Amino acid sequence: MKLLIILTIFATSCYAADFDKLVLRFFGTGYNDYKNLTMTGNFSAINGTAYFDMTKLSALIIHGRVENYSSDVVKELHGAFATRSSTYNIILADWGAYSEEFYLKMMLNLNDMADNFVFLLNKTKTAGYDLKKIYPVGFGVGAHVAGRIGSILKDQNTTLPRITGLDPTGVLYNWAALTVKIFGAKGNKTPFKTLYKGDASFVDVIHTNAFWYRGVDVAMGDVDFWPNGGVTQLKCDKNCTFPKVIYKVEDCSTCSHDAAFYYYAESVRSFFPNFNSKLCKKNTLIKSSKSCKESASANMGFFASSTATAGSYWLETNKAWPYSKLF
Ligand SMILES: *[C@@H]1O[C@H](CO)[C@@H](O)[C@H](O)[C@H]1NC(C)=O
Ligand SMILES: *[C@@H]1O[C@H](CO)[C@@H](O)[C@H](O)[C@H]1NC(C)=O
Ligand SMILES: *[C@@H]1O[C@H](CO)[C@@H](O)[C@H](O)[C@H]1NC(C)=O
Ligand SMILES: *[C@@H]1O[C@H](CO)[C@@H](O)[C@H](O)[C@H]1NC(C)=O
Ligand SMILES: *[C@@H]1O[C@H](CO)[C@@H](O)[C@H](O)[C@H]1NC(C)=O
Ligand SMILES: *[C@@H]1O[C@H](CO)[C@@H](O)[C@H](O)[C@H]1NC(C)=O
Ligand SMILES: *[C@@H]1O[C@H](CO)[C@@H](O)[C@H](O)[C@H]1NC(C)=O
Repeated sequence: MKLLIILTIFATSCYAADFDKLVLRFFGTGYNDYKNLTMTGNFSAINGTAYFDMTKLSALIIHGRVENYSSDVVKELHGAFATRSSTYNIILADWGAYSEEFYLKMMLNLNDMADNFVFLLNKTKTAGYDLKKIYPVGFGVGAHVAGRIGSILKDQNTTLPRITGLDPTGVLYNWAALTVKIFGAKGNKTPFKTLYKGDASFVDVIHTNAFWYRGVDVAMGDVDFWPNGGVTQLKCDKNCTFPKVIYKVEDCSTCSHDAAFYYYAESVRSFFPNFNSKLCKKNTLIKSSKSCKESASANMGFFASSTATAGSYWLETNKAWPYSKLF
């Protein structure tokens, strides 16, 4: 608690970031075809062109820490939503100019940054767009950015229908999620605000590397999915015990972390629900499937639905693509 107070004071006294390098990237017909909307930019040049259609929904991709527009998560999610381009505009919330900052600084600036993304999104609203058509999908720290965008919009009476979090980052956020668990929603007003249920009407989360230094290991959404237990994924090195887990980050952690967006992208590309999951008795990180034989089931990924019973879900995947057990 003391730490929280000190960090809060630090947060309110020394952050003064300007976010003039934030960009919303509107994709056209391919990954290399896009228009940037900058903080000083004018949305008129994008509105009603091949880059943005008012009548469509918008997938808002939010990359994670030390990532930018050229990261795998962006390419993968862009490719997936491109198969649904008749219903979705594809927009990237590009914070690449800030994603490599010192971790704590980045974290303390996150609310401010989300506010600036809302400023950019507001430009579409001014042109007549209904912000409720925006569907943020955030990866890693990007999941927390998505939560903040949702929560800021909610404060201005625009509750988004849905946010999806892909392996939300746990570093310094893990105990923040626990704080919420213990103190309720009030615990989530700190600079460490995590993505949490309530940030949108429906929040679904996929945990693939829930581990003390990587992914959040407590349930945060209306529904939380823990594929293969949610800690290590099958395609990755299984020998990730201490101390190997420290020096083999690529094989041990990044591989499992990234699996979240590969699974999700596979569901976006699918014509039907392809990651059926079983409800578990406990709503938390699941170490074994034993307690997950409840009769209720839900679909992980794109087909997750607000009609699903709230709670944590277990599922298994294949070791390699396609990850869906249907194949
Ligand atoms: C769009 O913004 C990115 C920074 O996010 C920049 O690297 C790129 O050059 C910009 N593209 C154009 C055409 O301005
Ligand atoms: C944006 O561009 C349009 C058309 O060129 C112009 O009418 C409008 O005033 C501009 N808006 C701003 C805020 O500069
Ligand atoms: C984007 O990220 C890649 C990989 O981390 C890096 O090599 C590249 O320089 C970054 N690009 C920009 C414009 O920051
Ligand atoms: C976005 O627009 C709303 C009004 O529609 C306004 O209340 C809010 O302050 C704006 N937010 C930002 C960050 O510009
Ligand atoms: C944006 O485009 C739509 C049609 O796609 C049009 O109805 C609306 O007036 C445009 N808004 C502005 C501010 O130009
Ligand atoms: C939000 O809605 C409530 C109730 O309809 C209203 O009292 C309040 O002024 C609205 N706030 C904003 C920022 O529009
Ligand atoms: C894991 O460790 C076992 C025994 O130490 C070894 O046989 C196996 O090849 C290792 N697997 C990988 C993927 O490194």
